[in-house]
Amino acid sequence: MLKGRHFIEPFNFSLEELEELFVLAEDVEAHPERLQNCCRGKVQATLFFEPSTRTRLSFEAAMLRLGGSTLGFAEPGSSSAAKGESLADTIRTVSCYADLIVMRNPKEGAALVASRYAEVPVINAGDGGHHHPTQTLTDLLTIRRLRGGIADFTVGFCGDLKFGRTVHSLARALARYPRIRMIFISPPELRAPEYLRQGVLEQAGIEYREADRLEAVIGELDLLYMTRVQRERFFNEEDYIRLKDSYILNAEKMEAAKKSLFVLHPLPRVNEIDTEVDRDPRAVYFKQAKYGMYVRMALIASVLGAVPC
Ligand code: NCD
Repeated sequence: MLKGRHFIEPFNFSLEELEELFVLAEDVEAHPERLQNCCRGKVQATLFFEPSTRTRLSFEAAMLRLGGSTLGFAEPGSSSAAKGESLADTIRTVSCYADLIVMRNPKEGAALVASRYAEVPVINAGDGGHHHPTQTLTDLLTIRRLRGGIADFTVGFCGDLKFGRTVHSLARALARYPRIRMIFISPPELRAPEYLRQGVLEQAGIEYREADRLEAVIGELDLLYMTRVQRERFFNEEDYIRLKDSYILNAEKMEAAKKSLFVLHPLPRVNEIDTEVDRDPRAVYFKQAKYGMYVRMALIASVLGAVPC
């Protein structure tokens, strides 16, 4: 039962609970009318202390499609945070107005703190470089839909693996599925954090290795998860400029990849995928964005206990 639950990190839900969400999301995709009015009268607050296009709009679109309403801010400068209000007080207040809080915040751990003060379920829409569990739902649903299941593949994570929260959440989530192999492709400065490599993957017995050239490993991959270099989390601009174009996926590199490869990207893209790749049927990142809305519909309806029997 997901009713009333917070969703702060991807492993807050069991594999069975995730499966329930994916089945519901696929059902919504096939029969959009099924959940059409199930959240009528419910209010979702979207509190975005950091920029967003897909996550905020897909949450809002999802709630509107469920028949509910949505309010909030996309710019912390327009909220009382700008006057120095604490996160705890903001959350206590918003709990009086909304049935569900979706929050993105630049501080790692902010969503967990919010969940301790909220009277309603809190969904983490990204906390700094830490986790982004609903992007993980999106990624897992995309993999499940396109490959027919979540097992038995080699995934390459490429780009900013140090600051990229989508990678941290997805790698951690995939470590619970069978026969997944991982290759982490990054410059030495942007390696996946040690807690993830040693604390999670090694503990779970996951087969993984690191590489610094995409060309050297692309032919082995069944899935390639590209990411942008996270400019906003760098301490200085020179390092960002030096590292930002470390990897650029183009048609020539795609020639060396399997015909059955899928290229995912949480988006926004900056330079790391040449737009010529968009025409390649193996590029699925815009499809992925659409699955994000279906799985968020399933999540909202479930935590609000609004799924019709
Ligand atoms: C990601 C994020 O916010 O972490 N974007 C998203 O939600 N789809 C990826 C990114 O910003 O690079």
